[in-house]
Amino acid sequence: MAAGVQATNDDATSCKRYAVEKGYWDDPFVTCFSRSSSRRSPEISRGYYARVKAVETFCRQFVDLCNRKGRDSQIVSLGAGFDTLYWRLHAAGRRPSRFVEVDCPPVVRRKVVACQRKKLLSDVIDLDGHVTVSGCGLYSKCYSVVGGDLSDIVDVGKKLMECGLVADVPTFVLAECVLVYLETSQTRRILTWAAETFSTALFLSYEPVNVFDQFGHVMVENLRLRSCALLGADDCESLDRQMSRFRDCGWKRVNAVDMWDVYNMLPADDVQRVERLEFLDEVELLQQLLQHYCISYAVNDLLGMGLGDIRI
Ligand SMILES: C[S@@+](CC[C@H](N)C(=O)[O-])C[C@H]1O[C@@H](n2cnc3c(N)ncnc32)[C@H](O)[C@@H]1O
Repeated sequence: MAAGVQATNDDATSCKRYAVEKGYWDDPFVTCFSRSSSRRSPEISRGYYARVKAVETFCRQFVDLCNRKGRDSQIVSLGAGFDTLYWRLHAAGRRPSRFVEVDCPPVVRRKVVACQRKKLLSDVIDLDGHVTVSGCGLYSKCYSVVGGDLSDIVDVGKKLMECGLVADVPTFVLAECVLVYLETSQTRRILTWAAETFSTALFLSYEPVNVFDQFGHVMVENLRLRSCALLGADDCESLDRQMSRFRDCGWKRVNAVDMWDVYNMLPADDVQRVERLEFLDEVELLQQLLQHYCISYAVNDLLGMGLGDIRI
C-alpha cells in the first residue's frame, strides 16, 4: 500500500487532536497517538466533529440496542488507524462484547506499541485479563487489533474471525474513510464478505461523495499530489452510487446521507456550542465541504433486532 495512504491516518489523528484541544468533543485518548497538532481551519474541525459524532451515535445506539435485547454485540473497524472509538465507547459505558480492528501492519505495529506504553489505553484493555501480543497484533478477550491488507479480504476475514468474532452475533462493521483507497472490485468483495459472514449486521461507511464535480475534482487532485490515489473514486460519484454498491453486494436495507445533512441532524444545542468555539467566515464553504462527504449504511437483520431503526 502506498505510504501516502498510510499517512492519511497521521493526518486524521492530528486533525482530531486539534479539534479535541479546541473543545469540539471529548477524547482524552487521542493524545496517546499523536505528539502534537497543527492549526486547522474551523471548516475542517467542524467536519471532523460531524464525522466523529455521527459514527459514535450509530455505535452507541447499536450497543444499547443489543444490550436491551440481551444480545452480545461486535464491532469490526476496517482501516481503523489510530481511532480511539473503543476507549471512548468504554468511557461512555457502551463497550461491545468484542471490538476488533484491522489496518496495514506498519500502522498496527505503532498502535500496539501505544496500547502497551500508555496506561490510559492499557488499563482499559487489561480489564479483559489475558492480553497477547504476537506477530503484528494485540489480542484480548474484548479488544483486538490485527495487521492485514484489506485488498485481500479472504486473508483479513480469516484473521478477524480468529479474534473470536461469531458469525451470528449482531455486528457493526465500520469503514471510516477507508474504502475510497481500495479498488472498487476490492470494496465489493469486502461488502459481500461482510454480508455473507454476519447475518445480523449494520455496515457504516464514511467516504467522499460528488467527487466528479468541480470541488470534488480539486479534492481528488490534492490527494493525488500527496501520493494518495483514490482508487475507489468511481463509487464516490453520488449518494445513489454509494447505496447501489451495498445492494449489489447482498445488503437489504440501505441509506446514504451527505455530511451537511448529518451536521444539521446533530443535537442542536451541541452544534450551537461548537459553533461558538471558532469564528467561521464562510458558512457556504463549510456546506460545500460537507456536501462532498457522506455516510452510507446498510443493514441485514436476520434476528429482527430493529437495526434498521438506528439513525442519526
Ligand atoms: C484516512 S485513514 C482513516 C483512519 C480511521 N478510520 C479514522 O477515521 O480515523 C485511512 C486508514 O485506512 C488504512 N488503509 C487504507 N488501505 C488499506 C488496506 N489496503 N489495508 C489495510 N488498511 C488500509 C490506512 O492505513 C489508514 O489507517
